[in-house]
Amino acid sequence: MTEYKLALVGFGGVNRALAQLIAERNERWKTELGFSLKIVGVTDLFLGSLINRQGLDAASLAGLPAVKGALAQLPGGNALALNEVVIKDSGADIIAEATFTNPVDGEPATSFCRWALESAKHVVTTNKGPIALHGAQLKALAQRNHVAFEYEGSVMSGTPVIRLARQLLAGSTINGFEGILNGTSNFVLTRMESGLGFTEAVEQAQALGYAEADPTADVEGHDVRLKVVILANELLDAKLNVSDVRCRGISTLTLDDIDQARQNNARWKLIGAATRQADGSVSASVEPRLLDNAHPLASIGGATNAVSFNTDLIGTVTVSGPGAGRTETAFALLSDIISLHQAAAQNRE
Ligand code: HSE
Repeated sequence: MTEYKLALVGFGGVNRALAQLIAERNERWKTELGFSLKIVGVTDLFLGSLINRQGLDAASLAGLPAVKGALAQLPGGNALALNEVVIKDSGADIIAEATFTNPVDGEPATSFCRWALESAKHVVTTNKGPIALHGAQLKALAQRNHVAFEYEGSVMSGTPVIRLARQLLAGSTINGFEGILNGTSNFVLTRMESGLGFTEAVEQAQALGYAEADPTADVEGHDVRLKVVILANELLDAKLNVSDVRCRGISTLTLDDIDQARQNNARWKLIGAATRQADGSVSASVEPRLLDNAHPLASIGGATNAVSFNTDLIGTVTVSGPGAGRTETAFALLSDIISLHQAAAQNRE
């Protein structure tokens, strides 16, 4: 039976939810998935850090009080986030990186991933910054060190998109996609359809935990832009930088615009899209689009996300599901671990 030792980098909602899943399901995973997980290290800017090579109790970690330096209260804990030590020296096989997304330079998450990969540790991450800004370099680094670098949760949280398209649409060419890739903005538009003002709708999305720390990234399309870069580079083999993607958000849409659309059997949606052009280049954009109610993305309401792939052999394939949420995103980390376990098993054959 394989037991993977796991270090959790960033202990906000997502890795805390992963600890909870480990506490509840580790036994079951042994028979269902062929492996179990042991947490040997945790580090977090706010909570501090803790290493125990024999294994930490996942249930106690999941219930850790969210107070500054809380990890220092446990035996062997430290009030400082000793990120490099936890990543390199906790004895972990896998680093689960779930720190905040920095859309400007992807730091410090990119360094966390780099340290782990250079130390020949597998990395699973939900962080859009390192993938959108430095994905190619990090993938190459993983390859050179013969370890996995997986990031399913960076787009649409636990809803399978990247791996689904890469593996299950293999053999068919994806020529483009369009998607509702931000739950907050879709929630805001849906609430505005019921007459709520823009500001109140954003406040509700914040209260429900969908929005980024700064909701500007949600409503101005910056969050979607990172996801478009990730999907285009991954699935259309594009080499896009964030600045290559035209970006306009939903903050200028008024209740009148929304109402007028309704009278014309249409809806405004914030659409992230990429298309392969005749010359092979890929163009990409984020913008509010007026969709006829018959469009497959028009009926996607609330915080739900969806993406439609345009393929050469089977036409349009649409996947929809949650695009955010703690357990939903922790599930993406689990799916990454399952994937690297399956790859390791294949390599052993
Ligand atoms: N703030 C994002 C959203 C979370 O609303 O979709 C996931 O990236």
